[in-house]
Amino acid sequence: MSYQIRLTRGATFTAGAERSLLDCAADAGRHLAHSCRTGRCGTCKTRLVAGSVKRIGTDLWLSEQDRADGWILTCTDAATSDCELDAEDLVRLAGIDVQTHPARIDALERLAEDVVHVVLRLPPRAALRYLPGQYVNVILAPGLRRAYSLAQAPREDGRLELLIRRVNGGAMSAYWFGSAQVNDLLRIEGPRGSFFLRDTAGADLVFLATGTGIAPFRAMLTELAALPGEAQPRSTTLLWGGRQPEDHFLPPPELAALNYIPVLSRAGAGWGGARGHVQDVLLAGGLDPSHAQVYACGSQAMIVSAQTALAAVGLPGNSFYSDAFVPSE
Ligand SMILES: Cc1cc2nc3c(=O)[nH]c(=O)nc-3n(C[C@H](O)[C@H](O)[C@H](O)COP(=O)(O)OP(=O)(O)OC[C@H]3O[C@@H](n4cnc5c(N)ncnc54)[C@H](O)[C@@H]3O)c2cc1C
Ligand code: FES
Repeated sequence: MSYQIRLTRGATFTAGAERSLLDCAADAGRHLAHSCRTGRCGTCKTRLVAGSVKRIGTDLWLSEQDRADGWILTCTDAATSDCELDAEDLVRLAGIDVQTHPARIDALERLAEDVVHVVLRLPPRAALRYLPGQYVNVILAPGLRRAYSLAQAPREDGRLELLIRRVNGGAMSAYWFGSAQVNDLLRIEGPRGSFFLRDTAGADLVFLATGTGIAPFRAMLTELAALPGEAQPRSTTLLWGGRQPEDHFLPPPELAALNYIPVLSRAGAGWGGARGHVQDVLLAGGLDPSHAQVYACGSQAMIVSAQTALAAVGLPGNSFYSDAFVPSE
């Protein structure tokens, strides 16, 4: 059985009955917003305008009320009739193919007690094409895979950079902070995700990061610096949140026009910078919701809180993009 799926903002594709709408779209060369692909992050939350679906995966995001209001997750839901979705085909993802490659650890550097910078080297002819902001899955052993944002724009030498925070008791953390060695052989799968810059021309661009959520913004800032003048935003602000000063484990990004605001929630009396949570500091500084385009990455708590607070001051839903570092399945 197959069904016709129409996207309100362009494109149609055919969907099978037992495959997620997200995967069916990808099979047809269409690209819907997504991140975790496992019902945990809410990035693929979409309004079902017409038709019906059924859940084929675990949805940890939508409430029964959300479902009653017509929201679905395209990563966990399959069509049971022809449908119309209030979604767009993300054409920037066309030609960005998901690949699996072996990768060796090229360099490992501890940036803080609980943060490591990893550089991965792919085989000579295995270049990975990706958009700044996307992530890869690192596969350590069968059944042990974790998502990590690519922490730099594509490099000429093809190497990939990651910024990894230790999670206490975490299976992959035990590897990165225990036994990982230069030259270890891993596998990577990707790129994944739809966290990438949209049309930023003339916008007040805001990046909200917590912890290693800074990673995709390093990549995006490099991309931004290379954009021609007419594509540049009106302003660019990066708020990077942590608890203590050591959570700012990288130097301030070098971008002349960047308004960089480090924020700490548990700093001692010696800290003269912004205090609290990034979303509160942003709002306290004033925001023009009609011009703002906000990208948030890091903890799910920050992302949910930022989205709610920004919607309350009038930021349109399609001006907020996020990548939540939710645990893997
Ligand atoms: C799209 C995406 C991009 C990501 N990018 C990055 C990145 O660039 N850098 C980075 O450091 N991490 C990133 N993560 C998180 C990363 O994939 C792992 O979840 C994290 O490193 C923990 O893996 P682990 O194997 O050490 O812990 P696990 O064995 O998976 O978990 C151990 C325990 O900790 C809990 N846990 C796992 N992760 C978290 C968390 N983030 N907060 C609170 N509790 C948690 C689990 O529920 C479990 O109880 C990303 C996640 C996603 C979905
Ligand atoms: S909930 Fe569907 S992509 Fe994360």
